[in-house]
Amino acid sequence: MSPPPPSTNISLTSDMKEIRFIELQKLFVDKFKCEPKYFVRVPGRVNLIGEHIDYCGYSVCPMAIQQDILIAVCESNNFSISLTNTDPNHKDFSCDIRTFSILEEGSSPPGWYSYVLCGVRGVLESLTSENHIPVGFLAAVTGNIPLASGLSSSSALVCSAALATALVNKVQFTFDQLAVVCAQSERYIGTQGGGMDQAIAFLATAGSAKHIEFDPLRTTEIQLPSDAVFVIAHSLHSLNKAATSDFNQRVAECRLAGQIIAKKKGLTWRKINKLADLQVSLKLTLAEMEDIVAETLHEHPYTKEEVCQALEVTEQELEHSSLNPKVKHVKTFKLFQRALHVFQEAGRVDKFCKICEEGDRSNALEQLGQLMQASHQSLAKLYECSHPQLDQLIEVASKYALGCRLTGAGWGGCTVSLATKATAPALVDLLKEEFYLKNPMYKGQDLNTLVFITKPGSGCRIYDTEEMD
Ligand code: GLA
Repeated sequence: MSPPPPSTNISLTSDMKEIRFIELQKLFVDKFKCEPKYFVRVPGRVNLIGEHIDYCGYSVCPMAIQQDILIAVCESNNFSISLTNTDPNHKDFSCDIRTFSILEEGSSPPGWYSYVLCGVRGVLESLTSENHIPVGFLAAVTGNIPLASGLSSSSALVCSAALATALVNKVQFTFDQLAVVCAQSERYIGTQGGGMDQAIAFLATAGSAKHIEFDPLRTTEIQLPSDAVFVIAHSLHSLNKAATSDFNQRVAECRLAGQIIAKKKGLTWRKINKLADLQVSLKLTLAEMEDIVAETLHEHPYTKEEVCQALEVTEQELEHSSLNPKVKHVKTFKLFQRALHVFQEAGRVDKFCKICEEGDRSNALEQLGQLMQASHQSLAKLYECSHPQLDQLIEVASKYALGCRLTGAGWGGCTVSLATKATAPALVDLLKEEFYLKNPMYKGQDLNTLVFITKPGSGCRIYDTEEMD
């Protein structure tokens, strides 16, 4: 079988006349003295609702955005991977595809190329033939997704590198398979994310958001009300989730909450990895799971000793069964709050999808907005992953937005607001005037890259330059 065919629902030649393609091709030729064989384009995403629940096994509702990672690529004639980037802050990198390591000792945050290597590793590990001799590649990379902003620039890089590797190695994957491979391999960066970002990167369709379910991965189109418009705004505070342990701590807290509840309910707690596993084992509804949290967990933080006692394990056993290396130092865990957020947020996703399924009706937008607002309150209070600048953006947006929430991992990054066709331009102007121009962190950046209206974009695309001739 051959690699996935290039997408046909667009005019490839006209896409490739875009200035970004032309400039990237020039960089590629200048650097590598040959022509690229493929271009690979992978979008960023904005998550509309369902935050910090994909790694607990619950479904989410993101859509692809217009900003993307674009890679020009061709195979190398030795085993090297050679990378160059249009961003001068991202230095050239090369390594041997047979021997590379993803993270260098002591480099935190990881270098940009580490995300590329995650994608490469994922594809190489998935090859079924033991006799496959890996083919390296030359790649020039450019991107316009704001970095460390909750819009999934890292996953877009991982996914585009995986596609590039699959193409030059002439191995066949479906986009569904690549989404799963990349979700796993991105964890080599050190963050225990779920599969939302990679799934939407590969499987988005222009014009609709997606309802993404996991284990196994399934996607369904969500038709948003026709008057819905989404506005993304940057909080002026970036956070690279691979550089801190906050994200992994939340993953661990959710797992521990599930395991302690399982133990109290007489289940085999070691089999419970995600809160969704627990719900399946208990055969309860999400609302009933909220009651279980209130019955079985206490609100004040659990100490590590208390967790060990509850599970009847030593600290060493706990580290092995439930914690990843980045959170071994953590001494207290807020299990009640994190589990409550997860079950309630999963319920909000169900309601969000149901409202969209019911089609345009008079108060649909208001209801969707309320769900988004409630999601943010929960992320701020129960999940503690907001940031004062995000909260301030949300307060300013509330004058015109029907609902507004942080999007992505949080602790900085962006908000997404729901507005209407009529109010969105006024919302953008309001945020410019009342948030950016009055904020000491605003240092004259292009306002249109900080706050913008977005529509559901398409998933990844492959352009085979030889088929263009
Ligand atoms: C990051 C992770 C996702 C998801 C979000 C939070 O983007 O990569 O898998 O967990 O955070 O919803």
